[in-house]
Order: sequence, then structure tokens, then C-alpha cells
Amino acid sequence: MNEFQTITLEKREAIAWVTLDRPDVLNAVNMLMRDELWTAFHAVRDDPDIRVLIIKGAGDAFSAGADIGEFGTAPSYVEARRARRERDLWQFMLDIDKPLIAAVHGYALGAGCEMSMCCDLRVASEDARFGLPEVKLGYVPSAGGTQLLPRTIGPGIAMEMILTGDDIDATTALRAGLVHKVVVRERLYDEAVAWATSLASRSPAVLRHAKEAVTRGLGLTLQEGLDLEFRLAHLLPN
Ligand code: COA
Repeated sequence: MNEFQTITLEKREAIAWVTLDRPDVLNAVNMLMRDELWTAFHAVRDDPDIRVLIIKGAGDAFSAGADIGEFGTAPSYVEARRARRERDLWQFMLDIDKPLIAAVHGYALGAGCEMSMCCDLRVASEDARFGLPEVKLGYVPSAGGTQLLPRTIGPGIAMEMILTGDDIDATTALRAGLVHKVVVRERLYDEAVAWATSLASRSPAVLRHAKEAVTRGLGLTLQEGLDLEFRLAHLLPN
């Protein structure tokens, strides 16, 4: 029986699937979904049998972002910031030392787009649309978008997307490097599984260190990054 109300978590051999499952509202991320994702991502991180995670959306979209029906319901701005610091879902995703794959169809807006950027690999179907519309609602993206988007596609186009709030289609996302592959809708999950199966066949320790070298290295100077790479590469027996 599924223990969650807003997501599902399934394990098929070494691959875990998290499905955002509020299709009536295009999988908008409400507080309960954040809590459930928090629990599910811990389960994925802590299960040694799980080697790769695929995230997808049920129904017509990946996710249309934060649930705008809940906007303004936090007890206070200070309280909301404290909760975010104590339970930083997006940082937690970034820290998972296993490969994360986003399989995106339909809208990936706001937190939906940001969640896909917290993954290491993104495959999209032709109908996918990516965007950070927060400024149109009077907010600054706050699930990592202002930092992850420029690091993923470069500051020029990222600045345009963040300041205008306009979304881009799958072809533009592919050209910008926001997604790695675009496929027809029917092939979306087959592609994700092919990737995940290939990654699951690799040494988890090698993938862990390679991922750490890339993600930690991004915040370092080149020399520091090369030192990090050296240390990580030599942690493993050859
Ligand atoms: N939060 C809460 N509900 C949302 C939602 C969100 N972020 N995005 C969509 N929904 C709901 C709609 O209210 C609608 O519910 P209803 O059937 O009860 O009216 C349902 O999902 C379907 O959305 P709808 O707007 O009818 O679909 P569409 O195809 O015409 O438009 C979008 C799709 C994504 C363009 C549009 O829903 C939208 O702009 N959503 C808000 C995106 C956003 O600003 N996200 C927050 C970022 S901070």
C-alpha cells in the first residue's frame, strides 16, 4: 500500500521511482508533498539497494510549481524561512550521492523546474515546457532556481528566463543544455530506464565520487577542484 498521499515511491530492482501525484493540480507542490518528498528522498538515500532515482509526474505535467493555493498561508515570513532552513528539501536532493534522473513531460514550472534541476540528468518529452514564473507572481524563485539555472545553462539565458518569467519549450531547453535528451512522449520512461539501468550497472562508489567531484568542484577554483578530483580519484582502489 502506498504510504503517501501526494507522491508514490516504487522500487524496481536497483531503480527507485518517485512520482509526483497530484494530477488534478498539475502536481503542484504543496506542504504535504514537500514533507512526503522529504521522507521519500531519505528512504532513497538510505536504501543501499537503490542505485538510481527517477522522478516523474502523474497525469499531464511534471509539476506546475509551488501550490499557489497555499501562498500566504505560512504562519509568518520568518517562520517560513526557519522551516526552509531546518528542512531544506532542495539541498537534500542536491546532496544525495546517487544519480537522480528527471523524466519531464508537460509543464515543469517554478519548483517543478527547480526540482528537475536538482537532478543530475534530465530527459524530456517533446511537449515539455520549463520556466520560473515566480516574478510574475511577485516572488523570487526560492527552490534554488536563481543559482541552479545559471549554473546549468549559463547566466545569459538564465537571466532572461528569471526576469521575464517566460517558459521555454523542449527544443529550446535542449539547445540551452537544460535537458540532455528530448524524445517522443511514448519513449520518455523507456529512455529514463535505459539511462538508469546503465548507471545502476556501474560501481556506486565510482559514481558517488565522480558526482561529488563535479558538484563540489563547481564552487572551487580550478586548482582546488583539481586537488579535490585527485583526492577523490585516489580514494578508490584501481
Ligand atoms: N498551484 C495550484 N494549482 C495549480 C497550479 C499551481 N501551481 N498550477 C495549476 N494548478 C491547477 C489549476 O488551478 C487547475 O485547477 P482547476 O481545474 O481546479 O481550475 C488545474 O491545475 C489545471 O490547470 P489549468 O490552469 O486549468 O491548466 P492550463 O493547461 O490551462 O494551464 C498552466 C497550465 C501551468 C500554464 C497554469 O495552470 C499556470 O499558470 N499555473 C500556475 C503556474 C505557476 O505560477 N506556478 C507557481 C510558480 S511559483
